[in-house]
Amino acid sequence: MQHSTRIALISGAGRGIGAATALEMGRRGYHVVVNYLQNTGAAEEVVRAIEAASGSAETAQADICDPQDVEEMVDRLYREHGRIDALVCNANTVNPPFEPLLALSWSDFIGKVSGELAGSYFLTQHVLPVMRKRGEGRIVYVSSTAADTIGSVAAHSTAKAALNTFSRHVAGVAAQYGIVANTIALPAVRTDATTGVMNDQLRQFFQSRSVEGRLLEPEDAARSIALLADDFGAAVGQVIRVDGGFDVLDQQLHTMVAHFE
Ligand SMILES: NC(=O)c1ccc[n+]([C@@H]2O[C@H](COP(=O)([O-])OP(=O)(O)OC[C@H]3O[C@@H](n4cnc5c(N)ncnc54)[C@H](OP(=O)(O)O)[C@@H]3O)[C@@H](O)[C@H]2O)c1
Repeated sequence: MQHSTRIALISGAGRGIGAATALEMGRRGYHVVVNYLQNTGAAEEVVRAIEAASGSAETAQADICDPQDVEEMVDRLYREHGRIDALVCNANTVNPPFEPLLALSWSDFIGKVSGELAGSYFLTQHVLPVMRKRGEGRIVYVSSTAADTIGSVAAHSTAKAALNTFSRHVAGVAAQYGIVANTIALPAVRTDATTGVMNDQLRQFFQSRSVEGRLLEPEDAARSIALLADDFGAAVGQVIRVDGGFDVLDQQLHTMVAHFE
């Protein structure tokens, strides 16, 4: 049966950027599917918050790196709702290893790269055919400005750069079926993933490259992701930076340093 309410499936929506995006999509009138891995309480809390704001939502436990889990989740959603209108590939499947390149083990490196791609790959493969049946849909991949950064984030940068390229391939295929895919690239955002690694020096680094002099909050990211997932006009297959000014301020700082050297 096909329901009239639009359905948004958000991976890793129990916490952080995914949770904030779920709330934002709920406000925009979607029935939100809050996917998560193991933290049932956090996912249920997101559903309650959406409902408290007069929206509707449900949880969906599934390991998005497991093709069978993804297939079962997507099949169930299609059976129960008859449609998926928006897919946000957001889950932080593997925390980045921060060892310097020469100390980085192959297993940590490839674990990050393959974990990053697996979730987006399996979700895309299973959700695209569902969207194709209706000839419309929107997919957003959550990437990072780290894709263009050099430093002790080699695994993370490589993983996100690969995601960017993958998303452009998806966009090319999806466009033939009336489906729009785009990617958002974020700088450091205050979530569980960054709390443990963000020392004062790093915090100052990011704050000095922000127009508002602060780290981005999940809600900052969520507004832009929801816009892309809902209706962002004619952008197709783009990697869009939403970085609070990081790019321009960073370049300006480097130019100033070079000028005075
Ligand atoms: N935070 C940043 O600074 C930053 C910057 C740029 C880009 N990003 C990107 O933004 C996205 C979200 O990051 P975040 O910082 O919000 O993450 P987070 O706070 O660590 O939240 C991770 C979420 O992903 C879920 N998850 C993890 N593995 C999963 C799996 N295999 N299957 C299903 N769900 C899974 C977790 O579920 P449980 O709650 O059940 O564990 C949780 O809901 C990631 O793609 C990340 O790379 C983050």
